[in-house]
Amino acid sequence: MKIELPNEKLVIPSGIVSTTSDIIKVLEDTEGLGVITTKSIGLFEREGYKEPVIAGVGGSLVNAIGLANPGIDEHIKEIKEIYPIKKILMTSIFGSSAEEFVEITMKLEKYTDWIELNLSCPNVEGYGIAIGSSPKLVKEIVSSVRDTTDLPIFVKLPPMPGYIGHIAKIAIKAGANGITAINTIGPLIFLNPLVDKPILSNIYGGLSGIAIKEIALMCIREIREKVDVPIIGMGGISTPKDIEDFKRAGANLFGIGTALMGMSTDKLKSFIKELSLGRISDRPKVPLEYKEFEIKEVWGSDTTKVLILNGSIEALPGQFVFVWIPNIGEKPFSLAYNNPITLLVKKVGPVTSHITSLREGDKILIRGPYGNFYIPNSNVNLVAGGTGVAPIHFIAKAFKDKVSSILIGGKNISELPLYDSLREITDVKVATEDGSLGIRGLVTDIIELNNGEYFNCGPEKMLIKASEIESKAVSPCKIFCSVERYMKCGIGICGSCALDGLRTCVDGPVIPYSILKIGKDFGNYKRSPSGRRIKIE
Ligand SMILES: Cc1cc2nc3c(=O)[nH]c(=O)nc-3n(C[C@H](O)[C@H](O)[C@H](O)COP(=O)(O)O)c2cc1C
Repeated sequence: MKIELPNEKLVIPSGIVSTTSDIIKVLEDTEGLGVITTKSIGLFEREGYKEPVIAGVGGSLVNAIGLANPGIDEHIKEIKEIYPIKKILMTSIFGSSAEEFVEITMKLEKYTDWIELNLSCPNVEGYGIAIGSSPKLVKEIVSSVRDTTDLPIFVKLPPMPGYIGHIAKIAIKAGANGITAINTIGPLIFLNPLVDKPILSNIYGGLSGIAIKEIALMCIREIREKVDVPIIGMGGISTPKDIEDFKRAGANLFGIGTALMGMSTDKLKSFIKELSLGRISDRPKVPLEYKEFEIKEVWGSDTTKVLILNGSIEALPGQFVFVWIPNIGEKPFSLAYNNPITLLVKKVGPVTSHITSLREGDKILIRGPYGNFYIPNSNVNLVAGGTGVAPIHFIAKAFKDKVSSILIGGKNISELPLYDSLREITDVKVATEDGSLGIRGLVTDIIELNNGEYFNCGPEKMLIKASEIESKAVSPCKIFCSVERYMKCGIGICGSCALDGLRTCVDGPVIPYSILKIGKDFGNYKRSPSGRRIKIE
């Protein structure tokens, strides 16, 4: 079977950006993009590894997402809602045996254009080189899937210079129609120089980006010598020159992965369009290096603490940072101020339990800042619940003259340790559920209808209620909500924080209510660490 390649030659590779159906839908009108690949889908749901799941190495990345995926049944439930799309949809699948690949293929067949067999994940034992370097397994898996479907099959191979051509030939002989190369290089360990410890929770990860380009080119040349089928080349592509190099090596389509880090959806679309036209466009600088700070001051209650660090960070209100506690984990936090860095942390899980137990003089590792920001265009009314007080504290301190009112709420007084600091800036109205501070009630009970803008931050139900009330006074495009989703990478690559096709870490966290209200996720659905869509209770 000869497969027809798209005229638009760029590809989003598996595991990068287009990892949920809503993101895929949003990307389908990207000019220059011919193929959108899903994240690798297995038979069963997998949460993947705990954060940190990425680490920056120069301009490249090491990742160990750990094949997080909602499982094939859940994937189909969602993809059904959008399939077919305007581009070629290639579904990446993985399994531990030929039988698993076949079972997934049978379920998937009606909801994909091409299938990519991922025989090369370097950071989950048994799913990478163990399969992809075995002539017997490659032959068995590919021929079993070939017997199951007439759809085009691409085989994604591990980077194995000197051997990859041989394996590619076996895959094509067994019935594959094309080869994708290369996957990330690994497993390898990347130590953080400040603490001399591996950054990734899985310790081992796979390297991607510019650091692997030459090896990718070697692999593609070798594959091209052995087989006469389409090759999707990837590994460090970010410029027209890279595409030329991959074309000369023998690739027909070109995957752009790590180069997309830090890009909002609009930026990503224009970047891909420009690249497809042979033009270079700027890429955002993504601050991936951890910096060490000392805790200068800490106060609050057992459950909620304010931490003041001994340094500053160039950032604007609304932006967030990741705090990494080696051997425990990493979580994102909104900045409550940038100079000195101020964080508001509520005890929820192991990482926040550790952070809330830290004392003055202890050290803390931070990467960032990330996300978009909010600068008031006119006078602003600030409304926050619980730890949602953090960004409004930053706005109030940075844009004091523009603040019309500050309203905060929480379960009780112990959730609001920034109250006094806010009061030093201006009047603050408070509501607590137990009446321990301010009036007894919810912050939405005390919202006043004013002109200007509103900025809301807090639990999603509160955001909706507040925005609905505020819509009576101002247009929804003047109401800004800082939204929260499960974040893993924070740089727009993994897609775990998807919300109606936007990635909260790069398209947000500050999103106008006029956009949020037309989606179906806001207030209704969030995603679990595996990427499964779950109802917000
Ligand atoms: C965060 C991340 C997640 C990835 N997840 C997958 C995956 O699930 N399946 C897969 O086949 N490749 C995965 N890859 C590999 C990419 O698809 C691609 O092969 C690799 O990153 C090389 O391209 P690049 O240098 O342009 O990023 C992942 C890469 C990254 C950085």
